[in-house]
Amino acid sequence: MAKAKTVYVCSECGGISPKWQGQCPHCTSWNSLSETVQAPPAANGGNHRFQALAASSGEVQVLAEVQAEEAPRDPSGSDELDRVLGGGLVRGAVILIGGDPGIGKSTLLLQTLASVGARRKVLYVTGEESAQQVALRASRLAVDAGRVRLLAEIRLEQVLAVLQSERPDVVVIDSIQTVYTDVLSSAPGSVGQVRECAAQLTRVAKQTGVTMILVGHVTKEGALAGPRVLEHIVDTVLYFEGDSHSSFRMIRAIKNRFGAVNELGVFAMTDRGLKGISNPSAIFLSSHRDEVPGSSVLVTMEGTRPLLVEIQALVDEAHGQPRRLSVGLEQNRLAMLLAVLHRHAGVACFDQDVFINAVGGVRIGEPAADLAVLLAIVSSLRNRPLPDKLVVFGEVGLAGEVRPVAHGQERLKEAAKLGFCRAIVPQANAPRQGIDGLELIPVERLEQAVDYCRS
Ligand code: TYD
Ligand code: MG
Repeated sequence: MAKAKTVYVCSECGGISPKWQGQCPHCTSWNSLSETVQAPPAANGGNHRFQALAASSGEVQVLAEVQAEEAPRDPSGSDELDRVLGGGLVRGAVILIGGDPGIGKSTLLLQTLASVGARRKVLYVTGEESAQQVALRASRLAVDAGRVRLLAEIRLEQVLAVLQSERPDVVVIDSIQTVYTDVLSSAPGSVGQVRECAAQLTRVAKQTGVTMILVGHVTKEGALAGPRVLEHIVDTVLYFEGDSHSSFRMIRAIKNRFGAVNELGVFAMTDRGLKGISNPSAIFLSSHRDEVPGSSVLVTMEGTRPLLVEIQALVDEAHGQPRRLSVGLEQNRLAMLLAVLHRHAGVACFDQDVFINAVGGVRIGEPAADLAVLLAIVSSLRNRPLPDKLVVFGEVGLAGEVRPVAHGQERLKEAAKLGFCRAIVPQANAPRQGIDGLELIPVERLEQAVDYCRS
């Protein structure tokens, strides 16, 4: 086969250069050129990369006449993984799983393949570890390795040939950064290689209906390497989060063409691999024997499930420029909340360092955390614990008002179920009928909540 021609494409402006250069000659941005296979001329209908994306090509149809079938799904063997996938593995779907090294990607996928292998033909392509290492892991996990077919290979052309001959239903490529194609001269793991290999594998998935799971490393900046371009090619992007020091691992869908994106799967890493936690609501609470200052309990919603998460704050006299640091919560929002706290509740922190942390490494994006964050800060500043068995949620606006949040009822029910007996909630979230065993403290303004905790 004649060697395909490659060119260098700028990731900023899309300009094409025949040779690699440090600076794009078209838009003058630096280090933006990456090697790409030049699209063959119109003979096969244009850019093959776009063909890879279209499930089928053909004539124009009326939308109402298109047969809309629910994509068939295979259970992955783990309810938590199915939850993030939106109900199981979809045939022909390409799934990218990203996460820090050592967080459990290979473990999870080996467990998944062993389980799916009982019903379907599965193939594990390992480029990172040798076949022996994978076998060792399989025996450690005590999974049924008899059904998992293994290929230790990093040449894309070879992988594609095996896919052609083996015809598996589910394939794991561990990892996409180790696979390379001979067509490009750049090193495995480079942007061009990752993009080209992912595009080729995607095309195979769409053509043959195989479910393709790509493992992706995460760069230091936290982006899936082989930049965002991969996220556009694949159907689903799952991302491991969580503290690698704790035994809990969370998987979040960042993009999902076949389901909701806000579901969170929760797992515990055990000596027998990852085990799903079907009722995770209490795992993010740290167990203090006595109430401590600077701690509040938030009820947050992760997809359809309420989770109780402890929010910790430490407020300490600043020496020099006061610092604001937040782990698991939004940093910019913290600065805004501190301004609201000063302006509307008269609590000043401008000469204090403020650190906040969501326990357990869970990432909380919803503004319903505002009130819990502020009460933890006030509690730390005054060095007084908040009332016993208290949960808090509510969004705080710039005018100091406490705004209602979605799913108030579910949050309160979960708190009552876990033995909490007080809840500070936005006025509009207070249910007309009370909840057994839960005293409600509805508030309309931030001052009211701060005053309640003072009394
Ligand atoms: P791994 O799946 O290799 O991570 P990744 O593929 O994301 O790089 O996970 C390896 C880690 O998991 C390693 O630190 C050991 C731990 N582990 C367990 O705690 N229990 C187990 O049963 C297995 C297989 C791994
Ligand atoms: Mg691995």
